[in-house]
Amino acid sequence: MNSRKIKVRTVDLTKNFNLNRKETITAVRKMNLEAASGEVLGILGPNGAGKTTALRMISTILKPTSGTAIVNGHDVKAEPLEVRQSIGYLATEMGLYGRLTPRETLTFFARINGLEEDLIEPRMEKVFDILDMNEFEGRRVTNLSTGMKQKLSLARSIIHDPEILFFDEPTQGLDLMTSKTVMDYIEEFKKEGKTIILSTHIMHVAEKLCDKIAILFEGEIKAFGEISGLLKRNDQESLESLFFKVAEEGRN
Ligand SMILES: Nc1ncnc2c1ncn2[C@@H]1O[C@H](COP(=O)(O)OP(=O)(O)OP(=O)(O)O)[C@@H](O)[C@H]1O
Ligand SMILES: [Mg+2]
Repeated sequence: MNSRKIKVRTVDLTKNFNLNRKETITAVRKMNLEAASGEVLGILGPNGAGKTTALRMISTILKPTSGTAIVNGHDVKAEPLEVRQSIGYLATEMGLYGRLTPRETLTFFARINGLEEDLIEPRMEKVFDILDMNEFEGRRVTNLSTGMKQKLSLARSIIHDPEILFFDEPTQGLDLMTSKTVMDYIEEFKKEGKTIILSTHIMHVAEKLCDKIAILFEGEIKAFGEISGLLKRNDQESLESLFFKVAEEGRN
């Protein structure tokens, strides 16, 4: 029996940016993807491929030029508030307040995400434990290391225990141990039946975590599906070789 529900679907999702008065670029072109509950979808692509732009559109931060995305049954264009309630978004630019501590940061974000006041403390303690943050939860953000800040960003995106998670390069800047903590956590999330869409440059991260991948080049999806099927169809042994094959075909 397959009880998985489609939680995220993009429908011809497109974003154009005006670079100046004359030049417009299409950062994401007619993207059609879907991800179900209990599934991790990885978006792979080189720098500038459109990964962040796509994630920002499906998390309602950026308005699509055309097309749309349906997240947890709600249209990102028509019902952004409803979408926001069920998602957590981890951005690459951290946007943390230097003068607050992790404890203060999480309390703030728990509140703006509508978590009930008496649930905040226990939830925060749980997140500190999961991400091994107890040692520095009272230190000001300015004084934290890159990895500690990345953990805090991750904590912030999950504090309200959302059903759907969008992670832009979740292991960026992390040491091996912290990277493993984050990856274990993503697997845990998946077991809980959540839906995760992440972007990464790191093939072994994608190979280890993702059920499905989308390979993005210059804003267009060049391959999408379950990893094993994609490898077979393209006669490739690894994600890395598939990635280069798709890149090569894109150039021709
Ligand atoms: N706000 C913006 N205004 C204009 N152009 C933008 C803007 N944001 C992104 N772009 C352009 O859109 C394209 C896609 O950028 P995007 O950040 O989505 O790529 P990415 O796949 O996340 O790359 P990276 O791996 O470097 O993070 C790039 O050409 C970028 O210059
Ligand atoms: Mg990016």
